Amino acid sequence: MRVLVIGSGAREHALVLALRRDPAVTALFAAPGNAGIAQHAQVRPVDPCAAEDVVALATEVDADLVVIGPEVPLVLGVADAVRVAGIACFGPSAAAARIEGSKAFAKDVMAAAGVRTAHSEVVDNPAELDDALDRFGPTWVVKDDGLAAGKGVVVTADRSAARDHGAELLEQGHPVLLESFLDGPEVSLFCLVDGETVVPLLPAQDHKRVGDGDTGPNTGGMGAYTPLPWLPESTVTAIVEDVVKPVAAELVRRGSGFSGLLYAGLAIGAAGPAVVEFNCRFGDPETQAVLALLDSPIGELLNATATGTLAQVAPPRWRDGSAITVVLAAENYPGRPRLGDAISGAGEGALDEHATVLHAGTAQREDGALVSAGGRVLNVVGVGADLIEARTRAYDRIAAIKLPGSHYRTDIGLAAVEDRIEV
Ligand code: GLY
Repeated sequence: MRVLVIGSGAREHALVLALRRDPAVTALFAAPGNAGIAQHAQVRPVDPCAAEDVVALATEVDADLVVIGPEVPLVLGVADAVRVAGIACFGPSAAAARIEGSKAFAKDVMAAAGVRTAHSEVVDNPAELDDALDRFGPTWVVKDDGLAAGKGVVVTADRSAARDHGAELLEQGHPVLLESFLDGPEVSLFCLVDGETVVPLLPAQDHKRVGDGDTGPNTGGMGAYTPLPWLPESTVTAIVEDVVKPVAAELVRRGSGFSGLLYAGLAIGAAGPAVVEFNCRFGDPETQAVLALLDSPIGELLNATATGTLAQVAPPRWRDGSAITVVLAAENYPGRPRLGDAISGAGEGALDEHATVLHAGTAQREDGALVSAGGRVLNVVGVGADLIEARTRAYDRIAAIKLPGSHYRTDIGLAAVEDRIEV
C-alpha cells in the first residue's frame, strides 16, 4: 500500500512512524512534512489546503491511500476532492467536518442525538455581549465559533477577562460561543468512524494550559498520556454507546456520514460524561502517545475506515504499559513564538523505542542546522511499563534537548501518578 500523509506536525510524524511499522505499507510520502518526517517519508512541498495540488500529488505518487492530519483541509473539502479523484482518503467530507468547523453545527447535532454537552449561546453582536455574559459564569467559557487551534478558548473566573476575549473576537469579525462550564477531569476519546461503525482507541488526557498546575493561557496542547488509570472501562463503553454512536448515526441521518477519526473531548462530571467538543481528526498531542502503544498495523485500520470496511477488520490491539507526550514549545508560545533558533540534542526521530523525538515546528536551515519554525517545536514520547516509567523516560530525553528560551510542562500525567484525579 502506497500512503500519502498530509500535514506537518508531530501528529503527522507519529502517523508516519506508525505507518512505517506496518509491513503492508510499501511507500510513504508526506506533504509538506517537516525535518523529522523527512527522515522516514519522501516529503513534497504541497500546501495541505490546496485540494488540486494534493490530488495531483496523490496521483503522481500513485497513492492507494491519503491520510489527512489537520482539520483545516478537511473543513475545506480536500478529502472530498481526493475521493472524487478515485483515491481512498482517511478523513471526513467537508459536510461531516463541520462537527469541528462550526461549534454551532456540533451543538445542533448533539441536541438531535440526545448527547450531554454544555449549554451555549452564540453572540455575533457586540451590543449583546454583556447581557449574554450575565447569563453564564462564573466560570466563563468563551470560544471562537470556528477553527482556532485551541487558542481561541478562554476559560476564566474573571468576568472582565471573559469580556475582553469576547470583545476581541467580535472586533475581528468572529462570532463568539459562550458555554456553561463543565466540571470534572477531561478525556480525549478518539474513535475510528465509518458511517455508524465506531471503533474506539485508547482514552487519553491532554494538558491544554501552558503552565504546570494548569496555569496560564490555553494552548494547542502541552502534553498528554494514555491510558487513564483513573477512568473505568465502563465509562469508555458509555462514551462510545451514549455519545459517539448517536452522533455518528445523526450525521448519517443528515446525509453527511462521518469517515475518519472522530475525536470526542469530554468532561467526566458527577452526572457522567459531557461533551466539551468534537474534532474531525486525530488530536494533537494525544495521538503521539496513543499510537506509541498501538500494536496492530495502522495501515489496515485507516484503509478500512477510508474504504467503508471498518466493521470487517479486527479491533486494534494495544501494547501493555503507558505512553506520554511532552511538548517542547518555543519562547513566548502560545503568544507569537520566537522562531529560527538552533536546536541541539534532538537526534534522529526514532532511535530509542522508549523515548522518541517527534518534530512539530522544525525546519532545516541552509547550513543543515535544525531550527525552530513554530510554537510547538518538538514532542518527546516516553513509553514504559507504567506511567511513572514513561514519564521518567520522556523527561530524561527532553532534558537533553537544547533550544534557547524554550519551555515545557513538568507535570504531564503527574496528577494520575499521584492518584489526584477523581471521577
Ligand atoms: N488536543 C487538542 C486538539 O487536538 O485539538
